[in-house]
Amino acid sequence: MSGPPIAVLVIGGGGREHALAWSLATSARTARVYVAPGNAGIAALPNVECVPLDLSATELADRAEALGVGLTVIGPEAPLVAGVADVFRTRGLAVFGPSAGAARIEGSKVWSKAFMARHGIPSAAYETFTDIDLALAHAQERGACVVKASGLAAGKGAFVCHSAEEAQAAVIALMRDRAHGDAGREVVIEDRLIGEEVSILAFCDGKTAVLMPPVQDHKQLLDGDRGPNTGGMGAFTPVAAVTDAVLDTIASDVVGRAIDGLAAEGTPFIGVLFAGLMVTPDGVRTLEFNCRFGDPETQVVLPLLETDLLDILLACVDGRLDETPIRWRADASAAVVAASAGYPTSRRTGDVISGLDGVDPTTLIFHAGTSRRPDGRLQTSGGRVLASVGVERTLEAALETAYAAIDTIRFRGKQTRRDIGSRSRSLRYADAGVDIDAAAAALARATAAIAATHDSRVLSGTTGFGGLFDLEQNIAGLAHPVLVASTDGIGTKTRIAAALGRWHSIGVDLVHHSINDILVQGAYPLFLLDYVAASALEPDVIAAIVEGIAGACASHAIALLGGETAEMPGVYVDGELDLVATIVGVVDRAAIIDGSRVEAGDAVLALPSSGLHTNGFSLARAALRGLDLGATHGLDQALGDALLTPHRCYLPEVQSLRAAHVDIRALAHITGGGLVDNPPRVVPEALAVQIDPTRVVTPPIFSLIQRCGNIATSEMRRTFNLGLGMLVVVPGAQVNAALAALPDGIEVGRIIARAADAVVFDEVAW
Ligand code: AMP
Ligand code: GLY
Repeated sequence: MSGPPIAVLVIGGGGREHALAWSLATSARTARVYVAPGNAGIAALPNVECVPLDLSATELADRAEALGVGLTVIGPEAPLVAGVADVFRTRGLAVFGPSAGAARIEGSKVWSKAFMARHGIPSAAYETFTDIDLALAHAQERGACVVKASGLAAGKGAFVCHSAEEAQAAVIALMRDRAHGDAGREVVIEDRLIGEEVSILAFCDGKTAVLMPPVQDHKQLLDGDRGPNTGGMGAFTPVAAVTDAVLDTIASDVVGRAIDGLAAEGTPFIGVLFAGLMVTPDGVRTLEFNCRFGDPETQVVLPLLETDLLDILLACVDGRLDETPIRWRADASAAVVAASAGYPTSRRTGDVISGLDGVDPTTLIFHAGTSRRPDGRLQTSGGRVLASVGVERTLEAALETAYAAIDTIRFRGKQTRRDIGSRSRSLRYADAGVDIDAAAAALARATAAIAATHDSRVLSGTTGFGGLFDLEQNIAGLAHPVLVASTDGIGTKTRIAAALGRWHSIGVDLVHHSINDILVQGAYPLFLLDYVAASALEPDVIAAIVEGIAGACASHAIALLGGETAEMPGVYVDGELDLVATIVGVVDRAAIIDGSRVEAGDAVLALPSSGLHTNGFSLARAALRGLDLGATHGLDQALGDALLTPHRCYLPEVQSLRAAHVDIRALAHITGGGLVDNPPRVVPEALAVQIDPTRVVTPPIFSLIQRCGNIATSEMRRTFNLGLGMLVVVPGAQVNAALAALPDGIEVGRIIARAADAVVFDEVAW
């Protein structure tokens, strides 16, 4: 495209406008770029001049005329929703940006949801409210949902709620406290969607739309998608979740229907239409439309644009987009935002920014909230301060470049997410087209280990939908067989495994924990099924875990009858996983251990634990935060090893008590709830357990946790096993026989009549 050079006016002063001005300034057709009001970064661009931002639309149009501007590009939503583009058009001035009528697609969520419904654009089910009481009642009823201010709220008006309480708090913040002013006069409450979020920006000329490369934005402030919503803390492209097929659906069912719908309703859309989408297992759903370029999406995509941006914008304004080929570089691009202290709730300004001169000059830095001090130094002047953008052949390299730059730039209170792009990296198997095969590859590696747990009782194992287990052999001698089943997980011990990258032992934990859980009812374990869920399946990790599980099953003659691996990006935090099992065992009805025969005077024996087992890890991690897992910290092994020591299995001890004909009256597995909550679960209400936990040598890991966390002894007892992994209640007269059957059993207490507490921690007079 050619034509005489023209001056361009960009309205806005954020990172998006910096990227627009940067791109436009490089156009062969641009005479000069004016930006109102711009920022310190924009002012430093060659051939770009910042001009003050006048308040009214008319004054803006006057200024454009005075400057001899041939095209005005409106960056932010507020002037578009307010009708600035209409004023320009009425005066015959070329403007890139939709009319107020078309901008309602962003300006009013209530209007936008109804528009989507009218035109069959897939979106979350919703209701709208102007009455706070009705909204509160609906939030109470819905529980997990998303509450959104209908009006503009700078990307901060949507609350993704996990419970009725959170949803009601959001309604109150928006409707009563007016956290976003009049934007919260009306709210939308919609279904919460789970999936991969993606931003699609499209150039539009009123009748045609051309999609830009899909971008994934990170809306939440904190790593792992936690914390409040922001305008966007970083973004990247390509997005693995958006396959060509998904993109086609977006082009036709979302962007296409929106463009056609807006034209049909008499408000053709000229500008950039931005669709915020969720790629869910049920298909693409539209979260919102915006009537403008995204921020930081623009900073990510424009560096990939090979076609002259000015030509494209003019083609949109002239309705010639269908004649304008648009080309993109096939590279990856990633932006990492640095935000100011307090953002997004409050924000501090005036902090001096340094380190920019140390940034590799080939890395793009787009300023958002920056200004110059009178002494010329750069300072923060907004919530999102600036973003670094890396453009490289691979996403990994682009992120590395962007992080290298952002880490070089310093200002007080700088907030930067460390995990931009990590969601996409975890999807690399999907990228490579092996997605579900990742689980299959992992299972293939563990197949031999699983097969080793199978004997003639297993009629069909992990290949069928269900596992078939023949009970015959195990119930042959039982008068009245009863199945005992339990499901449990190993909690946040998985995070230690993740931190150390050592997964085998948590498979062992899972099996031992499960065995103990049914052992306490006298059951002999038969088979187990496991469930591993993560944001992405790493074959090596899955294989190590399954091998750990299978090995532990094999050593206790338990069949690993089945299992499931689930890949749930967006549900689980990258790098972390959840590990759960269901175990089934059998017991003769007469041999069920239920504590009902426990009497005052019975003895309480403890079987030592191997360490924390699988409970108390959240408290332990909090207490030990910051300690090097590789160092010993006074223990006789590395802290990581001490924490990962597998859960002890008490099956051999119970079998040997049975062989010695000891009357096991109760067994208490000391798990979550520690020594305080578990013993009462197995003794009649009229009785109490008197124990002296100090008779068992407390493993040093517990003392370290207590010291580091400054944790009260009562809290330690309520949380941990403190070395007492399993309590065994036997008749007083059988103590010696029991201790003879238990090489490391220790007598720790007595059953007494209950006065107040169900567990009395005291020295026992024997
Ligand atoms: P919105 O302003 O509507 O884009 O909402 C802001 C952010 O809230 C989105 O980018 C999503 O991260 C999240 N969000 C909005 N609607 C939903 C929904 N229905 N389900 C899940 N998350 C949502
Ligand atoms: N990054 C999201 C937006 O521009 O609204």
